Amino acid sequence: MSGTKRIPPGPPGYPLIGNTLQLVRAPFDFPIRCCREYGDVVRLRIGTLVFYLLSHPDAIEQVLRRDHRNFIKDRGTRMLSVVLGEGLLTSEGDVWRRQRRLAQPAFQMDVIPRYAGVMVAATERLLEDWQPGQARDIHADMARLTMEIAARTLLGASVAGQTDRVGHAMRVVMEHFASLAAVFPSLLWLPLPRNWRFRRASRDLNAVIYDTIAQRRATGPTGDDLLSRLLAARDDDGSQMTDRQLRDELVTLFLAGHETTAIALSFCYYLLAQHPQAEARLAAELDDVLAGRPATAADLPRLPYTEWVVKEAMRLYPPAPSIGREAIHDCEVAGYHVPRGTQIALVQWVVHRDGRWFDEPESFRPERWANDLARRLPRCAYFPFGDGPRICIGNQFAMMEAVLVLATVAQRYRLALAPGYRLELLPSITLRPRHGLTMTVQARPEPALHPRAAPAAT
Ligand code: HEM
Repeated sequence: MSGTKRIPPGPPGYPLIGNTLQLVRAPFDFPIRCCREYGDVVRLRIGTLVFYLLSHPDAIEQVLRRDHRNFIKDRGTRMLSVVLGEGLLTSEGDVWRRQRRLAQPAFQMDVIPRYAGVMVAATERLLEDWQPGQARDIHADMARLTMEIAARTLLGASVAGQTDRVGHAMRVVMEHFASLAAVFPSLLWLPLPRNWRFRRASRDLNAVIYDTIAQRRATGPTGDDLLSRLLAARDDDGSQMTDRQLRDELVTLFLAGHETTAIALSFCYYLLAQHPQAEARLAAELDDVLAGRPATAADLPRLPYTEWVVKEAMRLYPPAPSIGREAIHDCEVAGYHVPRGTQIALVQWVVHRDGRWFDEPESFRPERWANDLARRLPRCAYFPFGDGPRICIGNQFAMMEAVLVLATVAQRYRLALAPGYRLELLPSITLRPRHGLTMTVQARPEPALHPRAAPAAT
């Protein structure tokens, strides 16, 4: 390490609270302004905690990949262990390594196409409730849909009737984490209605999950769902997951998996509604490739534009808008000294809108992803799923789900923003529309070749 310890620049704050007020007042603009004004590494203070905001792909790659051993998950993410226990998202070290080894095979590219049918069928069931002319909260629809898909693919048909119960419990738990109690867990023990609701929801969630595990242990791991794969997974020494570990993984997969995908889809519709040319190109691709029949996993390579829409929506509105780490040793990042305990925020929200990596960064242009833009970009200039050993285990699952759901919806309907709708973002661990997404359902004309043609050859 160099003799003088360079400390990154940052905006002045107030005594005691540091930059808390600026961040609370402008949770989305303040980080962008900081990075534009102070550079790729910015120092902030929230109360007694020191944060470094990183917005250069090379520094982000250093933290997520090259020097990942210097960091653990940040304080905010670690608080999630109140609900997630030692699941993949929150565990560290040997516990994480073993769980990732056991869970990884269930997410391989040769396994996940089996879930395509569940994804398309669940979307078609949702669309049965839609009527042209209706105004609907599309974000609520997507949240219910991705919850149902998560329940069916994770736990199998046995819990399908309980998705509303699981969904409600999950929502209460998520709301809790948008509140201060997530950062100061001692607040959880105050006799407040929100704390009762949180504890009741956690109990409810556990009841459904433990019941399902017990049933499945009794009948044996027969189904093709993720739970069966996790039940059957054996480590090199022959050991398997305990009930507690299975519960932690299942709750983690629910929490990490369903809302993020719903958000990605909601922003696809939000952006398409404002870009009729992109919407027309999407519709043309779907008519051309699917000619009115349901999409399958085999169609995915022939739906590039649909995939670009999803990628571009996640560029502008990354469902997990920042990734957090904490330094466990004194170290150096991008030439700056990082004292042990520093919280590091890797901010997709800022990097994805940086003109150094993306032309016209504020514009929605799905076609920018043509000719494999992802490979031409510096690594970590686009990282909606993170990178390095802790990269999202569900990234291919999520991409397949988002493309299939979008294709199924856009084949039948176009969605227009309801008059007067204004997007307001809710700062949380995910990037949700604060007041949902009210849109009007409009029928699309039937494609020229309508007969429910046979699926594309594999
Ligand atoms: C558009 C959808 C999704 C987005 C944007 C997303 C984003 C992310 C990000 C950024 C991380 C890395 C966090 C970090 O490094 O601290 C992550 C981790 C994770 N995600 Fe996702 N995710 C999505 C969908 C899913 C799905 C569908 C599943 C499961 C079915 C899932 C399960 C997980 C798990 C278990 C981890 C922790 C992995 C580990 O640390 O080993 N995610 N996700």
